[in-house]
Amino acid sequence: MSSEQFTIGLLGHGTVGAAFAGLLEQRAPHVQRLTGREPLLAGTLTRSGGSFEEILEGSEVVVELLGGIEPARDYVLRAMRAGRHVITANKQLLSQHGEELFAAASEHGVQLRFEAAVAGVVPVVRVLSESLAGAHIERIHGIVNGTTNFILSEMERGSTYAEALAEAQLQGYAEADPSEDVSGKDAAAKMAILARLAFGTPVRLDQVPYEGIEHLQGDDLQYARELGLGLKLIGTAERRDGGLSVRVHPAFLYAGHPLASVHGPFNAVTVESSAITEITMSGPGAGGVQTASAVLGDLISVMRPPAALTAPLHPLELVHDVSSSYYLHMEVADRPGVLAEVARVLGEQGASIKSVVQRGLGENARLVMVIHPLPQSRLHAAIERIGELDFLRSAPRAIRVIEEEFT
Ligand code: HSE
Repeated sequence: MSSEQFTIGLLGHGTVGAAFAGLLEQRAPHVQRLTGREPLLAGTLTRSGGSFEEILEGSEVVVELLGGIEPARDYVLRAMRAGRHVITANKQLLSQHGEELFAAASEHGVQLRFEAAVAGVVPVVRVLSESLAGAHIERIHGIVNGTTNFILSEMERGSTYAEALAEAQLQGYAEADPSEDVSGKDAAAKMAILARLAFGTPVRLDQVPYEGIEHLQGDDLQYARELGLGLKLIGTAERRDGGLSVRVHPAFLYAGHPLASVHGPFNAVTVESSAITEITMSGPGAGGVQTASAVLGDLISVMRPPAALTAPLHPLELVHDVSSSYYLHMEVADRPGVLAEVARVLGEQGASIKSVVQRGLGENARLVMVIHPLPQSRLHAAIERIGELDFLRSAPRAIRVIEEEFT
């Protein structure tokens, strides 16, 4: 093995495993810049082929993406006992055998990283174990299963439960056995892992009571909507009566809760502590490429020399004349040709009007519009020319509009 390379053994080639192999190949130059060494996939264990012993022998880091308990547990333990760092996305394994695995990592002086095991690519494991390591956490609420959140979002829009589940499977969000998703068991495993991180208490999956979404009725979602309530499958870990309660069940939320606006396969975790008030992290919680991104992040963390954190990488030129959508507000006189003249000036600068409203009448009219993305320099030119028009009562006002909605 060349000292310029580091070798990775990949266990599993399902949705996440295959996505990880593809992402590693695609991002290899970037990984090399960050770690100083070229990543090399030394071997892959698939359902139909590969030898664990050979892969272990040829690897510095083992990435376990098999899922399930055995043989994943055996392989992870053997890898750590052989001095290999291990990266896993295996929530079942961590929530049922976490203490045994963490003890082995500590005994053999290796890292066991598992960002992808909870909430996909949302960096909740890293934030709880590093950024918030000093906080006294009171409560965690999480939407930690993408399949059920997707199903509930689709049911709110009128799909049946069966249609929505079939679509979630098609999109690759669901577990091999989707009853783990819809029963709440997948979310319970993730909450056991989060509870350990946040409260320093070992919590096993069999200590987390869970209810799923299989028995929910679509009309409850619709009636509750009229009361301002949205339904989510919520995992909770919180201090209660001097102890810790960890559980998963469907719950209604009012619109003001940070988790209420999390739709589709997105996950989100809200951490509450008196020192920090509340922090919410959200993002894609399921899907091959998304989860593989979190695995790759762990791989880089394990392999990166500490000094590389502050080293410059590949400087990009800073861009200034960026395009944005704009809201425009103009105090105008309400008379023929005013809108046409404003539109003409905008058109000359390449601006296209997306929507427009007029308020007020006569000399007190206001023209308010949103225009499609336009470079800042052209917007300034348009504003200057509009400001010179004789029917303007004051300088036009422009505010950028961020158009992405992620719903
Ligand atoms: N089946 C899981 C989900 C995938 O739907 O969230 C990520 O663990």
